[in-house]
Amino acid sequence: MQPAPFTIGPVRVENPFILAPLAGYTDLPFRLLCREYGAGLVYSEMISCHGLVYDQNKTKEMIATVAEEQPLALQLFGSEPEIMGQAAAIIDKEPLAMIDINMGCPVRKVIKKGAGSALMQTPHLAEEIIRQVVANTSKPVTIKIRTGWNHNSINAPEFAKMAEEAGAAAVAIHARTWSDGFSGKVDYSVITKVKESLTIPVIGNGDIHSYNDGIKLMAETGCDGVMIGRTALGAPWIFSPSINIEPSRSLRLKALSRHLELIDQFLPADRLLGKIKNHAGKYLKGVQNGSSIRVKIFEAKNFNQLQVLVHSLLDQHK
Ligand SMILES: Cc1cc2nc3c(=O)[nH]c(=O)nc-3n(C[C@H](O)[C@H](O)[C@H](O)COP(=O)(O)O)c2cc1C
Repeated sequence: MQPAPFTIGPVRVENPFILAPLAGYTDLPFRLLCREYGAGLVYSEMISCHGLVYDQNKTKEMIATVAEEQPLALQLFGSEPEIMGQAAAIIDKEPLAMIDINMGCPVRKVIKKGAGSALMQTPHLAEEIIRQVVANTSKPVTIKIRTGWNHNSINAPEFAKMAEEAGAAAVAIHARTWSDGFSGKVDYSVITKVKESLTIPVIGNGDIHSYNDGIKLMAETGCDGVMIGRTALGAPWIFSPSINIEPSRSLRLKALSRHLELIDQFLPADRLLGKIKNHAGKYLKGVQNGSSIRVKIFEAKNFNQLQVLVHSLLDQHK
């Protein structure tokens, strides 16, 4: 099966391999890097609707984008339709491609406020949120869901149909319930059912570990695109068919070096050193002698030292 482009509203997604939203990871530099390696669409970290409406500085930093990373889906989370609508109106002015609504996050802090995957238990509220967001933006609005709350309440097909009728332009589905967290067994058959019940595009997600896994998921379920989260960390080449399954050390270091370059360009690197080392260490995971390099990465005292280390490693492995 050849991966085919598809459209979400008027937005063309050239490559159906898509970067998932990952809080703490999918910031502007990492999204740009994944686009450079071929991701057809990238999602931001989840962004609080309250943070936007109350103009918090940290939230404003999180919506920064540039033309080169488009198409970008900026993801909002919240449970109050009116505030979600106001947040959509604020980001509607930004040069991004679409707005996504988080209806899948299982984290306690989020669900106890009725947001994230808790919305799968309150479809009327979820519908009102979708309608408010759609009414306040000219951009396509998408949702990201799970299969249901638990294994006795798998409701993704009906829920997704409701979303389509409320104006959603695509649905991404992580093939787990809330009760599965991030490690229960994925059930791709629900993706097939969601696809059968909708006319808008469906994006499948959960435990895609290789490009071939993604192709297989599209063939098996009929979904239009696949979204990759954890496997893309330290491995942005996952979006590209031309890079083989066992990337060389030089390819890993080149990707890391480019990642650091983009961080330097867009973020206050020294302030975020811990987070950057966390990203950097992932490029050497599962590599022979990778742990000794990871130790050196974690010993770097500042961003400059980290860059020097990576450049010298790259010179050694040319
Ligand atoms: C560290 C981490 C942060 C995440 N943050 C978000 C988020 O902000 N919004 C969201 O919809 N999903 C979030 N997710 C879920 C992922 O987007 C994805 O659905 C899940 O990890 C399954 O895909 P994967 O197996 O390819 O990682 C997060 C997952 C992880 C592990």
